[in-house]
Amino acid sequence: MTDIRISDSVRYVGVDDTTIDLFESQYVVPEGVSYNAYVILDEKVAVLDTSDRRTAAEWLENLEQVLAGRKPDYLVIHHLEPDHAGSIGLFLEKYPDTTLVGNAKTFQMLPKFFPGDYTGRTVTVKEGDTLSLGSHTLTFVMAPMVHWPEVMVSYESSEKILFSADGFGKFGALCKEAENEEGWDCEARRYYFNIVGKYGGQVQALLKKAAALDIRTICPLHGPILTGDLSHYLHQYDIWSRYEPEDEGVLVAYASIHGNTAKAARIMAEILQKKGCPKVAMADLCRDDQAEAVEDAFRYGKMVAMSSTYDAGLFPAMDHFMAHLRDKTYRNRTVALIENGSWAPAAARIMRGYLEAMKNITICPTVHTIQGAVKDVDIAAMEKIADELLAN
Ligand SMILES: Cc1cc2nc3c(=O)[nH]c(=O)nc-3n(C[C@H](O)[C@H](O)[C@H](O)COP(=O)(O)O)c2cc1C
Ligand SMILES: [Fe+2]
Ligand SMILES: [Fe+2]
Repeated sequence: MTDIRISDSVRYVGVDDTTIDLFESQYVVPEGVSYNAYVILDEKVAVLDTSDRRTAAEWLENLEQVLAGRKPDYLVIHHLEPDHAGSIGLFLEKYPDTTLVGNAKTFQMLPKFFPGDYTGRTVTVKEGDTLSLGSHTLTFVMAPMVHWPEVMVSYESSEKILFSADGFGKFGALCKEAENEEGWDCEARRYYFNIVGKYGGQVQALLKKAAALDIRTICPLHGPILTGDLSHYLHQYDIWSRYEPEDEGVLVAYASIHGNTAKAARIMAEILQKKGCPKVAMADLCRDDQAEAVEDAFRYGKMVAMSSTYDAGLFPAMDHFMAHLRDKTYRNRTVALIENGSWAPAAARIMRGYLEAMKNITICPTVHTIQGAVKDVDIAAMEKIADELLAN
């Protein structure tokens, strides 16, 4: 078990998953992911969340070790998604006398994953309700749609710990944290925008509730436990959930069939750098991680979207990217459009269609069509587009 001790009474029992191919069947996690779970040992014993079914055996072992012969009185279910709730069935087989703690929505949804009669085995909590364990007390705070409708967080007042569910989560197994040199932000940001990004308003609501609490430690369901000065993490979540650009810069996102649009994208990046753009990020949407491209689209205030036309439509990698941005409610940004087409270009029209349906997107007036290979006329147009993009 990852050796993390939050305090003598509050213990980590989570599991690292370093062999999963894709988290949620879509996100590459080169450093794995952790399914965090905790135990509070007091007069009463509370287990806070379980683990993915993939790692159930290890989780149950961790739990047994920390329980040291005691039996859990409560299982608090902050979130029913299978990466955390997947082992509830096995847990209940082993500890059938445990009372389940959740809210009304938790218990509406629980039988959908684990059919059964839970009568007399549950405590239903609502906003502000408390659960006393002895010297530790959990107060429940509802966080609907901070990923799923039934999500709640809890605050332990004696040690000032926020159990934040998916909020403040990060990709990466905890065993890899020691050698992680890029810090918290990068993978926490990719996690945030791809997993929770659609629900900025609900995250804002949760941050407002959290501001009223004196929090010393944040225990999320993925990634490192946050301690010390928490202001940086809270600040990042505030910017992200308000959909504000975090850094000044431009993302050049391109999808190219035969490489001509890719060449134009490299030239576009050079032009932007030459004109003094402080940061130019690039994403080859056919080959790079699209989740990283989504992250960068939100990180910066500006984007150049460049795509080949394909069968009278948009090249699929760009189409996927635009759909991802739509789903994550991309907004408040300035975007320039460049298409490539050799007989009936259509890519820019389709990209515009996506962007016009989003909130507060400014499209640069010059929309350029490259016809096959990059020529001087295209470079001149890209110079103009760079000026328009950097001007506002
Ligand atoms: C399979 C395929 C389908 C294409 N469909 C169209 C099309 O419907 N309309 C069009 O103007 N160009 C079409 N093109 C041309 C490309 O959009 C583009 O001009 C060419 O691939 C050069 O850009 P690239 O090297 O970045 O892919 C197609 C190209 C390929 C390979
Ligand atoms: Fe989740
Ligand atoms: Fe999760």
